[in-house]
Amino acid sequence: MPQIKSSAAVRAKLVRAATRVMKNAHAPYSKFRVGAAILLTNGKIFSGCNVENASYGMTNCAERTAIFTAVAELGPKIEIQAVALTNDRGVACSPCGACRQVIYEFGPDATVFFQGPDGSKQARIKELLPEGFRFE
Ligand code: THU
Repeated sequence: MPQIKSSAAVRAKLVRAATRVMKNAHAPYSKFRVGAAILLTNGKIFSGCNVENASYGMTNCAERTAIFTAVAELGPKIEIQAVALTNDRGVACSPCGACRQVIYEFGPDATVFFQGPDGSKQARIKELLPEGFRFE
């Protein structure tokens, strides 16, 4: 029988990976550590943390670190099935607009797990980013 993991199991696994990598964040300016983990449709998981810079605009969010790491490792044909986001303050934090667009590029049907104002939330990327940009 094919192993179809429940959404709760996927979420738990991704949150664990995101929480682990969050500790590596370089966040001396905001002091807000973020971790992200992505599940690809091939079953592989990649994770990333935010990497800030003294020139603030150069900061890379956790989600983009995870996605760019996956592309560097596997090439551009990756397909994101799910994304989880954690932060070290346990506060509401949904993916920023730039990261929504990057998630959409590699996972237009992806589910995103994140902390909302009233606890954990999940949403499809198309709900978070209606009419995302596509170059076609
Ligand atoms: N941050 C992320 O890593 N992901 C998001 O989706 C929201 C914001 C980081 C960027 C910066 O290092 C810190 O959170 C504060 O904005």
